[in-house]
Formats: sequence, C-alpha cells, structure tokens
Amino acid sequence: MKVIQVNKPGEIAIVEKPMPAEPGVGEVLVRIKAAGICGSDVHIFHGKNPFATYPRILGHEAAGEVVKTGAGVTNVKVGDHVAIDNVFSCGQCHACRIGRANVCKSVKVLGVHIDGIFSEYVNLPADHLYVVPVDLPWELAATLEPYAIAAEAMDRGAVQPDESVLICGAGPIGLVILQACKSIGARVIIMDVVDSRLEKAKAMGADAVVNTKRQDLEQAVMEFTDGEGINVAMEATGVIPVLELIVAKLMSPAGKVVVLGFPVEPAKFSPADIMKRELDIKGSRLNNKKFPEVIQWLADKRIDPTGLVSHVMPYAEVERGMDLFSNHPEEVCKIILTFDEK
Ligand SMILES: NC(=O)c1ccc[n+]([C@@H]2O[C@H](COP(=O)([O-])OP(=O)(O)OC[C@H]3O[C@@H](n4cnc5c(N)ncnc54)[C@H](O)[C@@H]3O)[C@@H](O)[C@H]2O)c1
Ligand SMILES: [Zn+2]
Ligand SMILES: [Zn+2]
Repeated sequence: MKVIQVNKPGEIAIVEKPMPAEPGVGEVLVRIKAAGICGSDVHIFHGKNPFATYPRILGHEAAGEVVKTGAGVTNVKVGDHVAIDNVFSCGQCHACRIGRANVCKSVKVLGVHIDGIFSEYVNLPADHLYVVPVDLPWELAATLEPYAIAAEAMDRGAVQPDESVLICGAGPIGLVILQACKSIGARVIIMDVVDSRLEKAKAMGADAVVNTKRQDLEQAVMEFTDGEGINVAMEATGVIPVLELIVAKLMSPAGKVVVLGFPVEPAKFSPADIMKRELDIKGSRLNNKKFPEVIQWLADKRIDPTGLVSHVMPYAEVERGMDLFSNHPEEVCKIILTFDEK
C-alpha cells in the first residue's frame, strides 16, 4: 500500500509500505478515502513543527471505510463509514483523570508524534472511530476533525447565544468556529487580511468582516458592540500582536479569550488589563472527544462543510496541494486528498 511520508524536513515522498497486520483486540482496519491537508502537515514537511520526528507519515484529518474489525469491537462494523479522532492519551495522568485527555501530559497526535493517516490503510483503535452517514461525501466527512476543534473552542469559551464573538483569522479554523458560533445564534465579527477569505466568512453568515490591512480592528469591534467590547475572542491567526491587541483593547468586562494559535514566542500583557475586567484567557487544544457532538451538528444541519472545501485532488498530488496551501491562501481553504486509486 502507498503512504505519504516526510522522510526528512523538505523531502516528501509516496512510499510503498506493507499492509498493516491483522487488526488485534479492539482494533479496526480502515481504508482511508479522503484526508484534509492542514497547516501542521505543511509545517512538518518544512521542519517547522517542534513536536514532529522523522520519517513521519503525515495526516490527521480523515475519513474512511471499515474493512476488518478485531476481537471485541462493537462500535463499528465492516462497511461503516467513519471519521477518525486523531488524539491519543495515556488515560492516567492528571488531565486524563479529570476528563481532559486532549491535554494529556503525553498526548500523541496522528501524523505528528505518531504515523498518520495519509495512507491507503491504517489500523486504529476502535474508540477513535465514529460512524458517519453513508451518504455524506468522503471529502466532507474528512472535515469533521476541524469541526471538532471548533467544538472544543466553543466549549472553552463557553459561548452563549446572546454573546458577541470576535474571530481572528478566517482560515479553515476561523471559519469552522464561525459556523459553530452562528449555529447557536451568537453575533460574530471576523477579521483577516485576505479579502477572499472574508468573503467566504460573509457567505457563511458572519455579521461583520474586517480586513485589518485597511480597517482599524478596535474601531470596528467597538462599533459592532456599541462600545461595550467583545464578549468572546477566538485567536486563530497565530499572530502575537493580534492576541496582545485582544487583551489590551478589545474585550468587554467578564470577556473570554480563547487561544488557538500557538506561536512559541512570548506575548506581552498588562496584568491590570486582565484583572480589572476579570478576563478568562483559555487555551484550546485539539478536541476532547467532540466527534459525537459535531456529527450531531451535521445531522441537525447546524453546520455545512461544503463551503470549506476548496480543492479535492488525488493523494499523488500532495506536493501540489501543499504548494497551493502555502503560497495561494487567497484561493485555498480546505484541500482534500482522495485515496480512491486502485
Ligand atoms: N488549537 C488547536 O487545536 C489548533 C488546531 C489547528 C490549527 N491551530 C492554529 O490555529 C490557527 C489557524 O489555523 P488555520 O488552519 O485556519 O490557519 P491559516 O493559516 O489558514 O489561517 C490563519 C488566518 O489568519 C490570517 N492572518 C495572518 N496574519 C494575520 C494578521 N496579522 N491579521 C489578521 N489576519 C491574519 C491569515 O490570512 C489566515 O487566513 C493557526 O495558528 C494554527 O496553527 C490550532
Ligand atoms: Zn488539522
Ligand atoms: Zn494522560
């Protein structure tokens, strides 16, 4: 079978590997059908992810078909279409014990710390598989992992229907959070520097969009909130000055800041800005078993992944996909690789 492997930073190849062994107890053999390219895949390719080791089979956003089940598997059966939860945890550390396995002290993510799902077949633990409707197109089923990230961010920000939300960044992550916020009735203003991404945001229901190349964000947020400041800010640009501005100028009293972007350099805040408004500043990492929730969102038509997918291409074109992703953000949203070739 074929896999997409980064041999070392800057060198990606389609490699022939032996088929996985027969699924063991609690394991399932899945034939991958579609998989999304994400920023972290590109970072690992370019050697810019501090957690990755090489060689590494990429990929952590995927859907596939169950081919074989090992002993003791009851939640899926042969022929089921499944989405894959990419987060692996130890089950024993403090975070795991209190039900926060996504921040397990030894968390492992498919395609980052362990081999991923840019692969024709993979063996996975059954409890990482969630059945999706058979009529859901594969390329849309592969977008459920980013929606699970949105569900986590909604949870961390405890977003309420009557709150105002600022989303910083209209990339795939900003856009899935936008859909999640709109689905509960929150008012959303979203910012970016790429007009085509903001147009997409508008089409997905954003109440206001701001291109910060031309418009002042603080002014736009104060107009949007009648001078109150924003109730919830979702930082999904990964740009430190954006986070600094959020904390210093944009929040309402009792506001909540959710940090998704993760540059490693320090940001500067005034403790007084946090204290005087009792701001909650919370990280949001991956997802904490949010797949059932997002599959329900889909069933209830609360989210629509169709607008998210900008390109679908065979896995053999992964390098073209990565190049498009890195160099043409104005054309690209989610790129899906298909694994249908015989
Ligand atoms: N917390 C998590 O679990 C998690 C998961 C996936 C991605 N991320 C992070 O979330 C962020 C968003 O992910 P994505 O896949 O949407 O990435 P992306 O790079 O596609 O989107 C980021 C967006 O921010 C915009 N942007 C960049 N600099 C800006 C600036 N100075 N002002 C305004 N807009 C600016 C870009 O134009 C882009 O549209 C990234 O930092 C990524 O690393 C976090
Ligand atoms: Zn991803
Ligand atoms: Zn743990």
